Amino acid sequence: MRTVNLIAACSENRVIGNAGRIPWVLRGDNAFLKRQTLGQTVVCGRRVLAEWPSVTRGRDVVVVTRNAGALPEGARAAPDLRAALALAEREALRGGIYVCGGGRLYAEALPLADRLFLTLVKGVFPGDRFFPEWRGVFTREISRRRFRENGLEAEFLVLER
Ligand SMILES: NC(=O)c1ccc[n+]([C@@H]2O[C@H](COP(=O)([O-])OP(=O)(O)OC[C@H]3O[C@@H](n4cnc5c(N)ncnc54)[C@H](OP(=O)(O)O)[C@@H]3O)[C@@H](O)[C@H]2O)c1
Repeated sequence: MRTVNLIAACSENRVIGNAGRIPWVLRGDNAFLKRQTLGQTVVCGRRVLAEWPSVTRGRDVVVVTRNAGALPEGARAAPDLRAALALAEREALRGGIYVCGGGRLYAEALPLADRLFLTLVKGVFPGDRFFPEWRGVFTREISRRRFRENGLEAEFLVLER
């Protein structure tokens, strides 16, 4: 099995989304997500694909959905996370696996993942989608880099279990 990575941005209260959007604007984090996943295989939910339609440019994409019919050119469908990972193996998709959300996929993938790329946004935000509790699971810190943007403070963390 190839490496399974989670890549996410969450606040200190583990919020990742609110009303269908990411609750902050951090261009540096968007750029990091795009760069880190380029040439790799992205596994994501149907709403994430709708929010990030250009994800199929330069990446292999497996969308977890029960509705395989409605996907754009270049995206493959799988009915659940395990089927998505099996499809990536079977079809020899590119690079490592990057699980890019949303909430349920992160929760299901956390026990399987080798590495976590987490942008930890300082502060408490209201939200309706959450990242699962990772503290106590991903305890090995590989790197940590602070940055500031739009009056927000955040850290890029790379963690292993
Ligand atoms: N901060 C971050 O890093 C980050 C990252 C990603 C998303 N977000 C935020 O999170 C929100 C979107 O996430 P979401 O959780 O609502 O949507 P999502 O996971 O992208 O999409 C939900 C749909 O995907 C399918 N799906 C997802 N997980 C599945 C699973 N484990 N098994 C089977 N099907 C699954 C289902 O599709 P069908 O109904 O078609 O079967 C489900 O209705 C937005 O607010 C977005 O901005 C934030």
